[in-house]
Amino acid sequence: MSVPGYRDTPARPWDAHSPVDPDEAAEFLELFHSEQETGGGARERIARVRDEIAATGTYAHTYAELVFGARVAWRNASRCIGRLYWRSLVVRDLRKVTAPAEVFDELVRHLRLAGQRERHVIRPVISIFAPNAPGRPTVRLWNDQLVRYAGHRHADGTVVGDPRYVQFTETLQQHGWRGKPDDPFDVLPLAIEAPDGTVSLHELPEDAVWEVSIEHPEQRWFAELGLRWYALPAIANMRLTIGGVDYPLAPFNGWYMGTEIGARNLADHDRYNLLPLIAHRLGLDTSTERTLWKDRALVELNRAVLWSFDQAGARISDHHTESERFLAHVASEERSGRPVPADWSWIVPPMSASTTGVFHRYYPEADQRPGFYLDPDARELGRRGRSPVPAPAARCPVAHGERPSPLPRPRPVPALIPPVRPATPDVAVAPVAASDVAQVPGQRRGWLTRLRRRSSSMGV
Ligand code: ARG
Repeated sequence: MSVPGYRDTPARPWDAHSPVDPDEAAEFLELFHSEQETGGGARERIARVRDEIAATGTYAHTYAELVFGARVAWRNASRCIGRLYWRSLVVRDLRKVTAPAEVFDELVRHLRLAGQRERHVIRPVISIFAPNAPGRPTVRLWNDQLVRYAGHRHADGTVVGDPRYVQFTETLQQHGWRGKPDDPFDVLPLAIEAPDGTVSLHELPEDAVWEVSIEHPEQRWFAELGLRWYALPAIANMRLTIGGVDYPLAPFNGWYMGTEIGARNLADHDRYNLLPLIAHRLGLDTSTERTLWKDRALVELNRAVLWSFDQAGARISDHHTESERFLAHVASEERSGRPVPADWSWIVPPMSASTTGVFHRYYPEADQRPGFYLDPDARELGRRGRSPVPAPAARCPVAHGERPSPLPRPRPVPALIPPVRPATPDVAVAPVAASDVAQVPGQRRGWLTRLRRRSSSMGV
């Protein structure tokens, strides 16, 4: 496998300091003019762009180019099964927004625009902030999605929340965040780093985070588990590249496919790992793999996710329908003379793979631009954040003749914006929680702690 960006083959490394490649700009402008009704040829525009790059190292997209570029980047996203809708992407032009507080305000606006709870609307939106310009550092968002749940590691080693974000959570705590260590669905604040290295943490207002409580259409006890998930998957750490210009901060969202939540986030062994608990509550025989208790629990968990999102009016697709739509997309793109690059290992759903059409064929693999790239440092920041520069080690107060060297100045950490999300009561009132707490007094009972204990007593 040698296509950049596929599985183990890294994408071409990005150098933020090098000027825009004029040929890549020209190629994009040709594409733009060939697909859009622009009324004119690309030649003039390309000549002007080449001059602009020669003079400044970069060039500014027109709004129409920006919109087209972002939509085509989605069309080219080889890991996305939901690309049929690429033309409907709402593009917010925020290229002038650079100050961290304004960036945060716009990210909140993004969430409110993309997910409108009262109107039962979720629509695909991208917010495009300032482009990279050679020699001009831009603001960085550490979070890998606009909404994510913390992973709180407790003193006894257990984790409450999403284990994937334990290190990220710990780093934010070093920056002064506290969070709600007993809440398994504790929304992380956004960590915004200004070009001077100053980091500020911003709590998302509660009304901007649409969450859905997970219940089951038949199993009444399911609601007692106190599960929920957010409605809007908004990837925040991929670089958008259009015609040689890079937009390091361009968060975008679509809507969920149920399996992302029910067969991965809530089910993966190293995430919420809920299958043992659900199998137990379903009364399944978990003593041997051959009862397929994991598969049966997986189906019920996924039914619960889809049913709950439907009840809440939060748009979500199921893997069978989305598979059909993707194949329709492939067919219509091919009719337009455009092969659809796709990564089989991402397109095929994580459950019931062979019952979906996308399983039964292969796809061309190609690294096409405009596109979205996850750079290694952005991935790292999204998993771990960046620890504050440690305070300088204590020095002997007696001068021993040598000239004191200047101490490195610790990076300033501004005061936190006060949290505006009130404590959520759902875990505390869950009947399962109440009985477990009563049985083992004196110990901290996080929700995932209980889960882990149950899991281990079942030998899983
Ligand atoms: N799989 C990721 C998650 O579960 C979200 C990726 C984007 N998904 C989407 N439907 N647009 O959070």
